[in-house]
Amino acid sequence: MPATTSPKPAPQTFRVKSFGCQMNVYDGERMTEMLAAQGLTQAGEGVDADLVVLNTCHIREKAAEKVYSDIGRLRRDDGSRPMIAVAGCVAQAEGPEITRRTKSVDIVVGPQAYHRLPELIAKAAAGEVALDTDMPAISKFDALPARGRSARVSAFLTVQEGCDKFCTYCVVPYTRGAEVSRPWGQIMDEARALVDAGAREITLLGQNVNAWTGEDDKGRVQGMDGLARELAKLGGLERIRYTTSHPNDMSDGLIAAHGDEPKLMPFLHLPVQSGNDRILKAMNRSHSVDSYLRVIERVREARPDIALSGDFIVGFPSETDAEFEDTLKIVEQVRYAQCYSFKYSPRPGTPAADMDGQVRPEVMDERLARLQALINRHQVEFNAATVGRRTDILLERKGRHPGQLIGKTPWLQSVHVTVPELFIGDMVEVDIISAGPNSLAGEPSRRKAA
Ligand code: 5AD
Ligand code: SF4
Repeated sequence: MPATTSPKPAPQTFRVKSFGCQMNVYDGERMTEMLAAQGLTQAGEGVDADLVVLNTCHIREKAAEKVYSDIGRLRRDDGSRPMIAVAGCVAQAEGPEITRRTKSVDIVVGPQAYHRLPELIAKAAAGEVALDTDMPAISKFDALPARGRSARVSAFLTVQEGCDKFCTYCVVPYTRGAEVSRPWGQIMDEARALVDAGAREITLLGQNVNAWTGEDDKGRVQGMDGLARELAKLGGLERIRYTTSHPNDMSDGLIAAHGDEPKLMPFLHLPVQSGNDRILKAMNRSHSVDSYLRVIERVREARPDIALSGDFIVGFPSETDAEFEDTLKIVEQVRYAQCYSFKYSPRPGTPAADMDGQVRPEVMDERLARLQALINRHQVEFNAATVGRRTDILLERKGRHPGQLIGKTPWLQSVHVTVPELFIGDMVEVDIISAGPNSLAGEPSRRKAA
């Protein structure tokens, strides 16, 4: 007997709220496009929607708790509530637990099953609790409608999903499933549609994006480098990025492509997590400090100006003070342009959650503060070093002040410019005139006389 709620009118309007990583932003866009193709209308800002999809993230601490409080906030002044769908990684991880815990959720749909939202909505409208956390990875992409008619200037394109690496702290292998690469032809079609719809930059997404592999249209096996080189042939597409990469999957070909494919941007997010080999082993990272540094060295040989980014976890179970100091050392050595850093937090069901030597919160706080101070110093220095430089920026959005636009440098820094005759989507050459910790200011360089 399926769980039931009361029958509801089929929703006419909807809102998708995405949390977390860029892949969730991408999934949210695809859900939006699919619901619109079904004839539903996106609710305007501040207007109640008949259906709210919470596209959740499970990476942060207390992720599930946050979702329950978000659900509570959807209750309206008159006591009614919209039809509520919980999607994303919390849906995958919690599954039926969600509808056991709250009566306010109608649909639970995992990240590999959201192409079935229309059927789930119909089920919910009939008063049945609709749950789908299956993982038929590829069929999602086959079933979704083609990309919409308008794209962001800088668009996301998921090319790979899931992870087989099983780092001992991480839930991704459980929430996103095994590594699956989307087929070449499908990616090319989607990229073409995005460019036709106005995208000038595409960021290829995957939990292990540089593990992407597939056969090209001539049946040759290709990796991320082949994919990037083929995409670079698309007229109208100016910039290609990809994220997130694993150090072990930085192939010779991909490193070489950074040296000779100008559309491949000089930015690489390459998480190392810790600067200590014993901790890396306990994390099951399958690379060492030295092998990581060697990859960085080779990437820098190929593309000397490459900006590097990383992820760090402090306070992994049993991490000693000296082992944490090794993390500061590797940060000093690499000098990242920017980084994300986190306190370790146990995720139920992952091996590290049951490890001995869980580190006390005060110790983690102190370690994180020291690490972030160092990372921030390097970020400020990196930004300051671009002052006086002439570079192209791609204008992506409006700034806070009238006439102000914000664009990105090749190194992914935001640049504010105020120039009336420019538009979002323009590529413009600027001189960087000042730098703050999080953004730069630029002015268009004077054009050379013809
Ligand atoms: N605790 C803290 N940080 C984590 N991350 C993933 N799992 C955990 C966890 N259990 C961080 C890693 C990863 C990033 C996306 O989130 O640094 O690269
Ligand atoms: Fe998680 Fe990344 Fe490790 Fe995969 S490689 S388990 S996604 S941290």
